[in-house]
Amino acid sequence: EVLDADDAVLLPGFVDLHTHLREPGREDTETIASGSAAAARGGYTAVFAMANTQPPQDNQTVTDSVWRIGREVGLCDVHPVGAVTVGLQGEQLTEMGQMAAGEARVRVFSDDGMCVHDPLVMRRALEYSAGLGVLVAQHAEEPRLTGGAVAHEGPHAARLGLTGWPRSAEESIVARDAILARDAGARVHICHASTTGTVELLRWAKDQGISITAEVTPHHLLLDDSRLETYDGVYRVNPPLREAHDTLALREALRSGVIDCVATDHAPHAAQEKCCEFAAARPGMIGLETALPIVAALLVETGDMTWRDLARVMSTRPAEIAGLSDQGRPIAVGEPANLVVVDPDSPWTVVGDALASLSANTPYEGMTFAARVVGTVYRGRLTTRDGEVLA
Ligand code: DOR
Ligand code: ZN
Ligand code: ZN
Repeated sequence: EVLDADDAVLLPGFVDLHTHLREPGREDTETIASGSAAAARGGYTAVFAMANTQPPQDNQTVTDSVWRIGREVGLCDVHPVGAVTVGLQGEQLTEMGQMAAGEARVRVFSDDGMCVHDPLVMRRALEYSAGLGVLVAQHAEEPRLTGGAVAHEGPHAARLGLTGWPRSAEESIVARDAILARDAGARVHICHASTTGTVELLRWAKDQGISITAEVTPHHLLLDDSRLETYDGVYRVNPPLREAHDTLALREALRSGVIDCVATDHAPHAAQEKCCEFAAARPGMIGLETALPIVAALLVETGDMTWRDLARVMSTRPAEIAGLSDQGRPIAVGEPANLVVVDPDSPWTVVGDALASLSANTPYEGMTFAARVVGTVYRGRLTTRDGEVLA
C-alpha cells in the first residue's frame, strides 16, 4: 500500500483519552466499529472509550468485551475506561483491581457524564487508584451548582432565558480534587477543562507538586458561547461553551503545558436528539474526525506551536498520562508503528453526513480547515488513505 504525500508531516499516532462510543446500548448512534473508523480517519491509533455505556463499563465482563470487540475491528486500540462507581451511581466503588487485571488491562477510570461528587467517595477512589497505579479522570461538575443548567452562565444564556452553568461548578471540583489527590498520594486527571479559573487552579496545583493532569477539547479551544444565539442544539455540550477569554486562556495553557493534552469528548447523538430546541437537545458533539485540523489551525498555523508540540499534546503526552508504554518512545527498526500522515495544506470542508461516525452532530458543518489526515498507520498497517477506511 502506497501513500502519495508530498510535503506531508509524519507524526506519531494520536491518542484520545476521552471518546464516547455507544456500544453497548446505543449502537444506533455509534458502535465500536464505526467509532474506530472515525478514529482512524482522524489520525488516532488509540482511544479511551468512556464508561457511560448501557450497561455501564463497571465490571470486568463489560470492559473485556469492549477491548475484544476493538481488537476484532482492528482499526485502533479501544481501551475501555472503567467506571469509578457501580452503575455510575456515585456511592459504591467498582472492582477497579479486577478490571485492571483483566484482558483489557484498564488503566483509566472515570464516571464521566456524571461527576464523582461525594468528596468521601472521591477520596476513597483516589486512595484505591494510587494503590493500583491507575488513573482517575474527573468530569468536574458540582451537580448542586449546575442543577438543570444547559449553557454557560453569562449574558447570552441570560438573554435567551437558559439556565446557567457557572464556572464555579467546575472550578470547585478541580480545587477539591487537587487537594484530595495530594493527600491520597494519587494522580488525578481533569477532563475537558473549560474555564480561565480552571487553568489558574491547574497552574497552582502543578506548582505545588500535585500529580494533576488535564485535557482540553477542540470545541472549548475554538468555540464560545456566542454560538448560543443561533439556539441550535448542536452547540449544547457539557461542560458548556464558555466565553472568548476562556478559549484564549485554554489555548495558552495548552501551548505552555499547564494543560497537558487535547481530548475530543467525541459524543455521538442521534439526529432527533440534537435537532430540537437548544434546551431540549442532548449534550455533546462528535469530534474524532475534526480534532487535528482544529488544533493545527489554532496553534500550529498561528505559529504558537510546532508540529512537534502538536505531537506532544495529541499523542505522546496522553499516552504517558494513560500509562501506554508503546507510544511516545522512538520506534525500533522493524517494529510495527503507529503513525499519522498529515497534509498541512489541503483545504477541506466538514460535512457531517460524510464522516465515518454513525452520528452527524458536528458543530463544524460547512467550516473549511487547511490540515487534513492523509493516512493512518496502525500497528504497521495502513487503516485509512485519503479518507477511505481500509478493511
Ligand atoms: O457533553 C457531554 N456528553 N458531556 C458528558 O459529560 C457526557 C457526554 C455524553 O456521553 O454524551
Ligand atoms: Zn464529561
Ligand atoms: Zn465525556
